[in-house]
Amino acid sequence: MVGRARQYELIAPVYDLVSGEWPVYRAGRLAGVSGLRLSRGDRVLVVGCGTGLDLRPVHDRVGDAGRFVGLDASRAMLGRAGRRAASLGWSGVGLVAGDATRPPSQRLAEALGDDGADAVLFTYALSLMDDWPTAWRAAVALARPGARVAVVDMQRAQRGPRPLRALADVAMWSGGADPAARPWQAVEQQCTDVDRADLRGGHVQVRAGTLPT
Ligand SMILES: C[S@@+](CC[C@H](N)C(=O)[O-])C[C@H]1O[C@@H](n2cnc3c(N)ncnc32)[C@H](O)[C@@H]1O
Repeated sequence: MVGRARQYELIAPVYDLVSGEWPVYRAGRLAGVSGLRLSRGDRVLVVGCGTGLDLRPVHDRVGDAGRFVGLDASRAMLGRAGRRAASLGWSGVGLVAGDATRPPSQRLAEALGDDGADAVLFTYALSLMDDWPTAWRAAVALARPGARVAVVDMQRAQRGPRPLRALADVAMWSGGADPAARPWQAVEQQCTDVDRADLRGGHVQVRAGTLPT
């Protein structure tokens, strides 16, 4: 088990309750999925997929013919994601255990099928990884040329009431995120046609763009 993923092994049973999803983080997730510009049947690689909170918004767009391949270092988080996939009745879900900085690329490629991923999604995951650029490179290597990629992540809030900004700090600290990581820079630097969202006083940052063809 790698680095900060260890703590998720412990909090998996309560993650959905304590993660601040509805008041804070849902908006960024939906903006990120929207920025992927998904079509029916698309195959989506989701890195650090956790309990699968991205499953429903992705399924709404790709439908039963689409595929969701989730990678996470915590088997307990993946167990939750598996239950969520079962409750959706979606057979196109593949969940793979592994470290995103040294991913089981062969297994992921097999789960994605020919040509690779049509889209890659990172929601609130890269800023937890000590070497997020390596995780980014490994994931985009599994995407087809011209795929869309979205990074949804966090930094210290820059605007808004002081108590809410303090709460954002607590969320980053307790979740193990590095507030200085700014992994959305990879989208800015390597993609074209970039969609941007700056939410929750700047705490939540979303970038989605197109990889080179
Ligand atoms: C804050 S949670 C976000 C989960 C999910 N993407 C979401 O939006 O709810 C971060 C997730 O990243 C996973 N993670 C952390 N480091 C990882 C690594 N090196 N490789 C794979 N997964 C990792 C954790 O296990 C955890 O499930």
